[in-house]
Amino acid sequence: MKELHVTPISNGTVIDHITPGRALDVLRIIGITGKGLNSAVSVVMHVPSVDGGWKDIVKVQDRELLPQEVRKITLVAPRITINIIRNYEVAEKYRPATPDEVVGLVRCANPNCITNKEREPVTPRFAVVTRDPVRLRCRYCERELDDVSPHLM
Ligand code: CTP
Ligand code: ZN
Repeated sequence: MKELHVTPISNGTVIDHITPGRALDVLRIIGITGKGLNSAVSVVMHVPSVDGGWKDIVKVQDRELLPQEVRKITLVAPRITINIIRNYEVAEKYRPATPDEVVGLVRCANPNCITNKEREPVTPRFAVVTRDPVRLRCRYCERELDDVSPHLM
């Protein structure tokens, strides 16, 4: 029997296979604070995954994600599957890849980096050093970031 973690949704997006512990980061990235909602949001944390590990799940009724939001989510949860639900069916399913280079999504942690200068700021750029977990290296100052979450723009 297929296990159902919270109710299926009729229309919207299911972000599945989120790295356990990252559901709240995902909510923050897609701008869900709990206030001003018009549709249901379900958050499932720490449930068994078919691979034998654990996962979190976020279900958002009546909402699709922007490409920029999906890119940011891959930086905190690199194994996500995005399911677009229409009329209770999975209409589309894809596994977005972590990009090779991260441009303008994350701020450098080095306060002296050229990307953090108040005058004439430069768009931050990072090379992706590892994908799971994500580790980034600033193209300008070489500072490495091993938890992107607090530095997302
Ligand atoms: N889902 C949902 N509401 C629906 C349909 C699906 O919330 N009306 C959820 C399922 O609970 C699951 C995800 O969307 O978390 C993907 O559904 P499905 O493709 O049917 O599940 P799996 O085959 O297990 O997905 P995968 O192979 O990607 O793990
Ligand atoms: Zn830097």
